[in-house]
Amino acid sequence: MPPSLQVDIAPGRKNSLVLKNPVMPASGTFSWGLEFAKHFDVEALGAVVSKGVTMAPRQGNVQPRVAETPAGMLNSIGLQNIGIESCISDMAPLWARWDVPVIVNIAGDTIDEFGEMARMLDGVPGIAALELNISCPNVDMGGIEIGQDIASSARATRAAVRNTDLPVIVKITPNVTDPVALARACEGEGAAAICAINTVLGMAVDLRRRKPVLPRARGGLSGPAIKPIALRIVYDLARALSVPIIGCGGISTGEDAVEFLMAGATAVQVGTATFANPRALLDVVEGMERWLAANHIEDVNEIIGCALPPG
Ligand SMILES: Cc1cc2nc3c(=O)[nH]c(=O)nc-3n(C[C@H](O)[C@H](O)[C@H](O)COP(=O)(O)O)c2cc1C
Repeated sequence: MPPSLQVDIAPGRKNSLVLKNPVMPASGTFSWGLEFAKHFDVEALGAVVSKGVTMAPRQGNVQPRVAETPAGMLNSIGLQNIGIESCISDMAPLWARWDVPVIVNIAGDTIDEFGEMARMLDGVPGIAALELNISCPNVDMGGIEIGQDIASSARATRAAVRNTDLPVIVKITPNVTDPVALARACEGEGAAAICAINTVLGMAVDLRRRKPVLPRARGGLSGPAIKPIALRIVYDLARALSVPIIGCGGISTGEDAVEFLMAGATAVQVGTATFANPRALLDVVEGMERWLAANHIEDVNEIIGCALPPG
């Protein structure tokens, strides 16, 4: 018998979110899922996570928007997207045909916008959950500006939770002194799960131009370089919170994913790895299954949090 990979990332909620396996794309690295659906079976994933959606369509930041760094990359996309209305009318009907839950990542400019967007997405067929992006480092309004402040993060969570029956996942930034306090405040306002982490603020310099590579100077660092940071935060959150944690940051293999589960994550997201290997998500699912089978583990839930201290 192959091991059971099923996990529940919103236990006890009005709308639970049971996944056939714990692996999903990280927002912004899988577009709307439709392009990937041409190349592989998206229904083999635990869930699909959309690109960050804003109230109005956005062009994103000026080029260049990405820079390669040792063991990772910097991005400053600036939430280029089609806007919430097109997401509801053009994307959701296609997602509704898939046998895989789709989580929509929403990015409000203001706290009220998080509430308004949650209300608009509530009950839309094809949408299984929301992920609040209160952690984008590449926009002038909303994003990290909300997510670096505990009270604002809590208010954004409350605004969304009170306007929808969908499970609300809050995606937090690592660019704070105390991610646990931040996540606790969101849990207190009804977050069904916490996703950790968004990108780590970084910068690269162009020697020839004697200027920052990215026009906004700062960008978000992702990829293997941030995996130890993400693991540390997941481990700290798992000891402090009762809600499930979705681990994200530098995962590219089944073994990476197992490390996150052992540190206390119930599910994982794979982002930058997909750019180098478009099949990375499936490799992570298959690699995780192989690891569990080789280690005679019948149910993936057995290893969740096994690296945490007892008690
Ligand atoms: C090109 C790019 C675009 C991203 N866009 C979003 C986004 O729209 N919303 C969001 O919450 N996170 C976004 N992220 C952050 C990722 O979802 C993820 O949190 C981060 O990249 C760390 O995971 P990784 O190391 O596996 O890439 C983006 C990351 C990259 C590299």
